[in-house]
Amino acid sequence: MASINSSKNKIEFGDFQTPDELANLICEVIQEKYNYSPDCIIEPTCGKGNILVSAIKKFPSSKLNIGIEINDEYLNELNEKIQNENLNINLLNKDFFSIDLRNELEIENGKILFIGNPPWVTNSILGKIESVNLPKKNNFKNFRGIEAITGKSNFDLSEFILIKLIDLFFNKNSIFAFLIKTSVARKILISLEKNNIQLETAEIFPIDSKKYFDVSVDACLFILKFSEIQNKVFCNIYESIDKRILTNKIGFFRETIIQNTNTFLNVEKFLGTSEYVWRNGIKHDQANVMELNLKDNLFLNSRGEIIDIEKDLVFPLLKSSDLAKGNLSPRKGVIITQKRIGENTNYIKESFPKTWNYLNANKESFMNRKSSIYKNKPLFSIFSIGDYSFYPYKIAISGLYKNIKFNILNPHLNKSIQVDDTCNFISCKSLDEAEILCKILNSSITNKILSSLIFWDSKRPITTEILNKIDLKKIAKELNYLTEYNSFVSNNPSSKVFEDNLVLF
Ligand SMILES: C[S@@+](CC[C@H](N)C(=O)[O-])C[C@H]1O[C@@H](n2cnc3c(N)ncnc32)[C@H](O)[C@@H]1O
Repeated sequence: MASINSSKNKIEFGDFQTPDELANLICEVIQEKYNYSPDCIIEPTCGKGNILVSAIKKFPSSKLNIGIEINDEYLNELNEKIQNENLNINLLNKDFFSIDLRNELEIENGKILFIGNPPWVTNSILGKIESVNLPKKNNFKNFRGIEAITGKSNFDLSEFILIKLIDLFFNKNSIFAFLIKTSVARKILISLEKNNIQLETAEIFPIDSKKYFDVSVDACLFILKFSEIQNKVFCNIYESIDKRILTNKIGFFRETIIQNTNTFLNVEKFLGTSEYVWRNGIKHDQANVMELNLKDNLFLNSRGEIIDIEKDLVFPLLKSSDLAKGNLSPRKGVIITQKRIGENTNYIKESFPKTWNYLNANKESFMNRKSSIYKNKPLFSIFSIGDYSFYPYKIAISGLYKNIKFNILNPHLNKSIQVDDTCNFISCKSLDEAEILCKILNSSITNKILSSLIFWDSKRPITTEILNKIDLKKIAKELNYLTEYNSFVSNNPSSKVFEDNLVLF
């Protein structure tokens, strides 16, 4: 294998060598928590071997120690250490994504410790830098959970590496202890639950990734223990790897991941399906062209230049930061080119020629939109648009901020306010409907259930997926608003109730 040292390669190979201090701490935690005497220690991407060497010293019971690494310079360094310290390690200078693990590792049943710090980089970042350090397609067929990962537009290499190892070796008496992003640890728990893989315990110990790797990422030591004792998937979360105090327990309830199983117990009956459909705001990936600043009845672009277009297609816009700060008076507008997904946009040419000219002047940047959703669609297409976008009232919440606060958006200058695609909203036909729903949503019951579901360290903690699982009808009943709720929901064509009725009659 070639040497691979450069800054692009640092990204490509997720090359952040674990310092000795952290390597030792990882092994200390495993010993303290599990009193484990492995027969075999394996590190899939061992780099210079700090973790592997620390583990071998901590667990002398292990007679077979294997390190896999793609970078031969690192292995040369590690080899020197092996010679100097007379260590027993077999090194494989191979690409993890190309090897046949079952044949290469040839491990017997027994206590196996899989340990390490796999690359934290995602396939979409690798795509951008044209890297080939990715799983080879034919190397993940017939693996439980793997096809689901690789079918996703964005997955982490560490996620792939762990799922593959788990799929091959989980039934052996094994422990998996890896430094990974906390969000990836959760994805792995979800995959275990989906694939009905039961384990004895799972634990998350957050680490200070700034201190150890000089990066700002929520990361943790993630430990999975498999054995004859089988439990439903759950995971203990600790304050940190240094302060090992239990803070909460992640679990599953009817396939939904629960952030805090204790607080969830009191509100679990409100988890179900929302009859009001939560949606994301307008998606266009063209903020510079489609979003305009509103000032003194004028439209300005981000450079402060006046944009002379008709008012008709410009709708008032609120962004995530506006909602989070409670700034509900729009300072921006967004050009709405369609009333429903896929609608032909040629009508703009005749009806709103200045808008048409403006859009065409920016044609190239529309043509450069990367997302596949725009393929084979009219050039000026937008997404997350439908009748529901134009109801007079919305109740909206930002998906990005750590604040569970729902706001009513009243019409502005006779137009329905739009929100951007980082926000979540439901649509209402009247102010009465919006007010009752907003009371339900800002109630302590809704707050409790959302708090026990939301993972605040996610990039977008509040999602339509979570909101659509809150049974507002049950909460309305608890708060004595059921009569009002029933009458509103059955008259709201954007609700599920209405859709169901349409199917019936
Ligand atoms: C985050 S570093 C960790 C290194 C070491 N495990 C440690 O904790 O110090 C990730 C390592 O994975 C290696 N790596 C990246 N892609 C690999 C691949 N396809 N096969 C094997 N090793 C790989 C990199 O060269 C790097 O040494």
